[in-house]
Amino acid sequence: MNKQIAILPGDGIGPEVIAEAKKILTAVEKVFNHTFKFIPVIGGATAIYQFGDPMPQTTIDICKDSDAVLFGAFGDPKFDKDPNAKIRPEQGLLKIRKELQLYANIRPIYTFLSLIDKSPIKKEIVEKSDFCVVRELTGGMYFGMKGRSEDNKTAFDTNIYSVYEIERILKIAFEMAQQRRKKLLVVDKANVLATSRLWRETAIRMSKNYPEIDMQCMYVDNASMRIITTPRDFDVIVTENTFGDILTDEASVITGSMGLMPSASIGVYTSLFEPIHGSYPEATGKNIANPMAAILSASMLLEMAFNMKEEANLIKLAVNKALENNIRTIDIAQDKAYTTQEVGDYIQNVILNS
Ligand code: IPM
Ligand code: MN
Repeated sequence: MNKQIAILPGDGIGPEVIAEAKKILTAVEKVFNHTFKFIPVIGGATAIYQFGDPMPQTTIDICKDSDAVLFGAFGDPKFDKDPNAKIRPEQGLLKIRKELQLYANIRPIYTFLSLIDKSPIKKEIVEKSDFCVVRELTGGMYFGMKGRSEDNKTAFDTNIYSVYEIERILKIAFEMAQQRRKKLLVVDKANVLATSRLWRETAIRMSKNYPEIDMQCMYVDNASMRIITTPRDFDVIVTENTFGDILTDEASVITGSMGLMPSASIGVYTSLFEPIHGSYPEATGKNIANPMAAILSASMLLEMAFNMKEEANLIKLAVNKALENNIRTIDIAQDKAYTTQEVGDYIQNVILNS
């Protein structure tokens, strides 16, 4: 197959881990006789320094034109120290989400047997956890009207959702539940919020079209507790933007391996794949960052954007082999720690020799 992939490494460790993921895609290209055209694009703090704009229009145009986008991370501590900075890397992230209409953020949560002792939660509770959070990504408070009163003493953010936005994200969640264990949990705050009541009403109406799915609704405060106490109970969780932001960070720690988790953002024009970890500035340029989340994001890209299941599985197998043979970076190393590039090389060789 011929495919065009926009490569958006971004800031911090982004370029280092994305270089390894690209290496893996190139290996897959060889083994399976595909042709991938990689187009590098720029964004985040890196683009602010070069162009004064965290998301240049050319980046948006090239991404829209590509079959998928592989993204590293945005963020630079320089901006975190100044909450009033007018231009920030995060704006680049929100802009690309809006422009590409990346409305469904999918974050799988599963444990790796070889890393189970890295979880801060007891092994008996987390082992065999396997669920997926579907977070709405282009609506709600993130994009609703916001502002300050004239005297600067009051501020507001508007949480706003329309039925079509709720329906399209729920459709993705119902369909994902159909492919999995047929359980869907809609997380809201319908006892307080009007938007949540619209979500719940829409979910109940749509559930009639999916009689085989066991759909339940739960308040977000309760759900946040249960993700920690009974993670195995979940299959697919769907929720709005802000709740999803918080719950996905919470859920990611139960696996004990932030450096391993990939994610997908499904859009109207194209889809974007990225590791869930951030730009990790402390590790930048040291060749120590874990490339596995970026590599697994490339696997997710092949599976979800190109329907290349066999190719995606081969990458997952190769990553597992690296884990089992202790070819790991410092964050999860047993004794000897390998570099970012060494881990990438190992996984690349497993694929080339398959
Ligand atoms: C995420 C991040 C972003 C978000 C920030 C950086 C704007 O936390 O991808 O979860 O809140 O969506
Ligand atoms: Mn977040």
